[in-house]
Amino acid sequence: MSALKTPLSREKAGALSSLLDGLSREQVAWVSGYLAGLGAEPLAASSADHAVSRPEVTVLHGSQTGNAERVARALHAKLAERGFAARIDNLGSYQTARLKRERILLLVTSTYGEGEPPDSAQAFHAFLMGERAPRLESVKFAVLALGDRAYERFCQTGRDIDARLEALGGARLHPRGECDLDYEEAARDWTEQVLKAVAAEAPPAAAPALRLVSSGPVYDREHPCMAALVENIRITGRGSSKDVRHMELAPAAPLVFAPGDALGVVPRNDPGLVEMLLQATRLQGSEKVVDARGGETDLAEALACRYEIRSVSRSFLARVAEWTEDQALKAMLEPGGAEGLKAYATGRDLVDVMREFPIEGLAGRDLVAALRPLAPRLYSIASSAKADPDHIHLTVGVVRYEHQGRTHRGVASTWLAERVESGAEVPVYVHVNERFRLPGDLATPILMVGAGTGVAPFRAFLEERALMGATGPHWLVVGDRQFRQDFLYQREWLDYRRKGVLQRIDAAFSRDGATKTYVQHRLLAASREVYAWLAEGGHLYVCGDAATMAPDVHAALIEIVSRERSCPREEAADYLRALMAEGRYQRDIY
Ligand SMILES: Cc1cc2nc3c(=O)[nH]c(=O)nc-3n(C[C@H](O)[C@H](O)[C@H](O)COP(=O)(O)OP(=O)(O)OC[C@H]3O[C@@H](n4cnc5c(N)ncnc54)[C@H](O)[C@@H]3O)c2cc1C
Ligand SMILES: NC(=O)c1ccc[n+]([C@@H]2O[C@H](COP(=O)([O-])OP(=O)(O)OC[C@H]3O[C@@H](n4cnc5c(N)ncnc54)[C@H](OP(=O)(O)O)[C@@H]3O)[C@@H](O)[C@H]2O)c1
Ligand SMILES: Cc1cc2nc3c(=O)[nH]c(=O)nc-3n(C[C@H](O)[C@H](O)[C@H](O)COP(=O)(O)O)c2cc1C
Repeated sequence: MSALKTPLSREKAGALSSLLDGLSREQVAWVSGYLAGLGAEPLAASSADHAVSRPEVTVLHGSQTGNAERVARALHAKLAERGFAARIDNLGSYQTARLKRERILLLVTSTYGEGEPPDSAQAFHAFLMGERAPRLESVKFAVLALGDRAYERFCQTGRDIDARLEALGGARLHPRGECDLDYEEAARDWTEQVLKAVAAEAPPAAAPALRLVSSGPVYDREHPCMAALVENIRITGRGSSKDVRHMELAPAAPLVFAPGDALGVVPRNDPGLVEMLLQATRLQGSEKVVDARGGETDLAEALACRYEIRSVSRSFLARVAEWTEDQALKAMLEPGGAEGLKAYATGRDLVDVMREFPIEGLAGRDLVAALRPLAPRLYSIASSAKADPDHIHLTVGVVRYEHQGRTHRGVASTWLAERVESGAEVPVYVHVNERFRLPGDLATPILMVGAGTGVAPFRAFLEERALMGATGPHWLVVGDRQFRQDFLYQREWLDYRRKGVLQRIDAAFSRDGATKTYVQHRLLAASREVYAWLAEGGHLYVCGDAATMAPDVHAALIEIVSRERSCPREEAADYLRALMAEGRYQRDIY
């Protein structure tokens, strides 16, 4: 019995939660009470609504890598805790026919691409924006948009959905919330405000329901777990134009992770860069400032581990423009200046800007007030916990480039590759990604497409599927620069091929010949087989660059579906949107 006092694993909690589906409120309360009597945590909410039969508040999430889903789940749990009849669904599986019957609709979504919806939300988004969308006069709604101010179309999907719900006649229950990368606090504030608005609208019908707690990971970006960096091996060959590392970390406490999850790494800035910034601003590192978490600390320490100093944000340039009254900078910040601003910010860091725009008498507290908090970096987990629960493997592409005669180094990738000593500990947490998951059925065929470090999660996929004795065929399409230097994990793939785990591997190398060969060219060349895998119920995964690779692969898939089904491209695009909504076409792109 004492084993129940330890937190339930994700699988066990999921299994218990699914057992509750279909039980009455009294039965659920009885089971939870029984488990609590044994010392177990109350059960986590599943996507089903256990508490009452007629849901009145619907929480929907559109998420690519899990942030919006996490916020939505926390909101749903709070609604249930406070006795509201609430249900939760993801925009991919939500039945749009329900939309006009909703009373209170709370929607949390992120934005991807260049202002586009997350993959699983694309079909919903297309429906809502289209002519078939119903009038929503009886719906009260609130939208929380997650995004990143570094993107030109900040929170675009949330903004679009919010505006469209209103245009369709819906009434705004609470103003749209917008969150930057450090979304937690803003999301918590919005959630509290929305809970009040819901309470004013529809007082809880029942006595407070079960206290629902998350079964998610204990560690998060605010409470990371320490992990020792025990392997750091360069896996690109001599003469390669890239430095890619295979890393292994040994967490100090067991971390629960599944193939498709990423590891969040809480990095430190390069001390050399901090020193250069102090010199460029003529500030003393010992000056006391309030750091990004509200505590007081030395300026040098705050710059080292609390603030982004490597990339230049629009808001920082706006402050510099105010301080300097520089007309060229001001023009870039005008609505028509986006291209110029992007060109200026690309490749530069804060040292470049402060050298170009020296500011007399700048105070340390004003400098940090203009900066964004240092965000953790995510790395796709490249190993299966079933194969090795004590280590987490990563494939890290080290970011280094020359700009204006100086080598610029990516914060986290160079920290891990160059500055963390062997065996030293780094703060990490598991970033759960339910949107990039292996199928439950071991017989389902899977087709994996990855370019560069995008192959990382497929190493975990294959390790897991091999261990589970999966019978479904596996097809891997990998792309990189040069066969000799950059064929990441080549030996392991060939080993899987020899053992019959991997039925097919196609590789595309872009810099070996006179013309570029990319992963999508391999897909197009195998058009019939690709379509047959999809048509026969296969799952398709794409991982790697979001800017050009993923859209180009998507365009190739449209071409393939259109060719093989002899249908117009728009119909092929709908086919792929439907696959995304079903979770059979999943992307982990960055
Ligand atoms: C879900 C997810 C999974 C990921 N998985 C992986 C993974 O498995 N492996 C991996 O390596 N990365 C992965 N990433 C990317 C990773 O999180 C970091 O973004 C990456 O390592 C760079 O972080 P950094 O701190 O080293 O660099 P930063 O300091 O953040 O610098 C990166 C920035 O530098 C600029 N830059 C880079 N190169 C140039 C150049 N040549 N010229 C001018 N400017 C340039 C760009 O603005 C770029 O955004 C993933 C990201 C996400 C969101
Ligand atoms: N957002 C971020 O912070 C961030 C950070 C790190 C990496 N990334 C992205 O993640 C990806 C993986 O990084 P990496 O350094 O390991 O790989 P990479 O070498 O930059 O790219 C891997 C392969 O993809 C090819 N490629 C380029 N454009 C493509 C396209 N439109 N379609 C298909 N393939 C294309 C490359 O070819 P060529 O280069 O020869 O054209 C190369 O062969 C990169 O593409 C990078 O842009 C993003
Ligand atoms: C490849 C990529 C593209 C993105 N594009 C945008 C964008 O156009 N606008 C924006 O506001 N945020 C953009 N973001 C930031 C995400 O919306 C943000 O990280 C959000 O917290 C992700 O939430 P999710 O995990 O629920 O998907 C982008 C992020 C990535 C990795």
